[in-house]
Formats: sequence, structure tokens, C-alpha cells
Amino acid sequence: MEYRYGAKKLSPVVFVAPMMDHTDRHCRYFFRLLAPDVGLYTEMVMAQAVIHGDRERLLDFDASEHPLAIQLGGSEPAQLARAASIATEYGYDEINLNIGCPSDRVRSGGFGACLMIQPELVARCVSAMREATELPVTVKTRTGIDDHDDYPFLKTFVSTVAAAGCETFVVHARKAILSGLSPRQNRVVPPLNYSIVRRLKQDFPELNIVVNGGISELAAVSEHLETTDGVMIGRKACADPRFLSAIQAGVLNELSGRVWSAPDRETVIRQMAEYAEQQMQRGVRLHHITRHLLGLFVGMPGARRWRRYLSEHAVLHGAGPEVLVNSLSYGDSG
Ligand SMILES: Cc1cc2nc3c(=O)[nH]c(=O)nc-3n(C[C@H](O)[C@H](O)[C@H](O)COP(=O)(O)O)c2cc1C
Repeated sequence: MEYRYGAKKLSPVVFVAPMMDHTDRHCRYFFRLLAPDVGLYTEMVMAQAVIHGDRERLLDFDASEHPLAIQLGGSEPAQLARAASIATEYGYDEINLNIGCPSDRVRSGGFGACLMIQPELVARCVSAMREATELPVTVKTRTGIDDHDDYPFLKTFVSTVAAAGCETFVVHARKAILSGLSPRQNRVVPPLNYSIVRRLKQDFPELNIVVNGGISELAAVSEHLETTDGVMIGRKACADPRFLSAIQAGVLNELSGRVWSAPDRETVIRQMAEYAEQQMQRGVRLHHITRHLLGLFVGMPGARRWRRYLSEHAVLHGAGPEVLVNSLSYGDSG
């Protein structure tokens, strides 16, 4: 399959959101088994860490994870450009800039959602990154921040950043409230506003607009794809990863012409056991892998028993991939 990030017609069209402490390489490997055509994102990685940190640990990934975007955090054009260039060498498919994170730590660092009020600076960051890489440079943002929450504010932000060459915007369809709410509350308290995202697409038909936030039903995925170019799924993918397989078997198979049916849980678990074996040889702890699988049986008989077995046994001293194989007798793995 040919991937066309940033092209007129987006491909992929369904993405799993960047999520700190979740979408690490093990999680992405697992998600890829469940849906061959979803676009995956890394957790946010600070540009500074890419430049000065342990690159192998921060940036390495498995070839099966393509198509894969790296999400960068930062607000220094030169630093972001250098990080984009390093990420390009590592083989990512897209470089995404985080303009949506509301956490105190991120805000005090002067990046994330608070950059929405500095569209010129974001545009400079995008320009510098584009000069450093051939890959599409995209932006993930919110609909607004604090009192800057009307449509003209969002429109000015998008047009300013688009003028610097950003062709794809992922919009979390709620504003961020920067004082008084934790990141977690900021994903629940500000109301969802999909219509403002649809309006953006109407006003900027030449841009790719990907909608994100609260999408957890198959029907909603299809409906959003009628009015926007892409859909991004966050928490639902972690809580119920088989949702990704359902999306793949439906709308994504249709679009790609693939004849793909979801592997049963036993197949997935055996593949993850093989993966765990390889990763453990490199020093990875078993539960760093298995923690991503805990939602695999959601809605099935025996789900709680299976989850409890896996979470209790994967942390034991000397636990190895056999824990995954043994877990098969605790859930209905069809
Ligand atoms: C645990 C967690 C960590 C997150 N980390 C990031 C992040 O690193 N970068 C980012 O842009 N958004 C982050 N988000 C926000 C998600 O990407 C997404 O925008 C948000 O969860 C709304 O989508 P959802 O309703 O489908 O979960 C995070 C969300 C969660 C739940």
C-alpha cells in the first residue's frame, strides 16, 4: 500500500492518537496486528530529547509499525528542525507537532496547547521543520484555549500555520482550559464541538482535517469520514483494542480493497508471545508489553479472569512469554 501523508487525499484515514505512557513501540506493534491500515503515532517526544537523549530507546521501532508518525513537542524552530531531521533518518513517515497538550509541565515549558495563541511562532516552527525534512509536517491541536475559543481564532491559527506549509491538521474537538484542569479533566470537561471542525474543513477544502475526540462507535467513524478527511481514535483503542479490527474489517478494508479478517485472540496472543520473547532478549520486561493487551477480551466471557491472570503473572520475577500462552486457558479466545 502506498501512504500519502499530507497529500490531497489522505491515506491512511484512521489513526490511533499519540498517548503518553501508552503508544510506545510495544503498544504500536500490538495495534498493528489488529489493523494493518491504521496510521500510528508515537507518544510525544520532546525535540530536545531527540537531539540529546538516548535515540535508540526513544526512536527505534519495528518495520511493521509503518505507517508511523512521530509526535514532537517543542517551540524552538531550530531545535524542532534538528529533531525532524533525526526522525527522518530513523524512517518515520510523518512529523507531527503537538499544539494540544494542556499539562502544567508542558505549559511551563512554553509549548503544547498554549502555543495556539502564538500562530506566527508555530508557523516558524513548521517552516523550519519543513526545510529539514521531505516528510509531511502536520499539527495536532485543539479547537481553542481558555477564552480564545471562537471560530475566527481557530481559523486564524489554521490559516497562519497552513501558510507555512502544514497541509494536515488533527483537531481534538474541544478547547483546552489551561488553568485549573488536569490533562485528564481536559479530555472530559470541555464539551466536544465537532461542528467547528467540520466548518474548518468547509473553509479549507484544500487542507486535510482529521477529527479527534470521543469517537468510540463504528457508525461515528463512518459519519465523520463523510465530512472530514480522517478520524483519530485515542482512549477507545486502549480500552477495547479490537475496536481497531472492527474499523479495519469495515471502512478500511473497503477503502484499501483488502480482504482482511481480524485474527482471533489466540493468534494475536501467540504473536505477542513471540514478540515478547524477542524483546525480552533485549532487556524489556514482560509487563511493559502485556500491559497494552489488557483490553483484548473486553466484552467477552472470562474477560476479567483473563485480565487478572495476565496482570498478576506478568509482573512476577522470572515471568516470560509463557505467561501469555498460559493466559489462553483463562479467556474465551475466539
Ligand atoms: C493517557 C493519554 C496520553 C495522551 N498523550 C498525548 C500526547 O502525548 N500527545 C497528544 O497530542 N495528545 C495526547 N493525548 C490526547 C489524545 O491524543 C487525544 O487527543 C485525546 O485522548 C482525545 O481523543 P479520544 O477521546 O479518542 O481519547 C493523550 C491522551 C491520553 C488518554
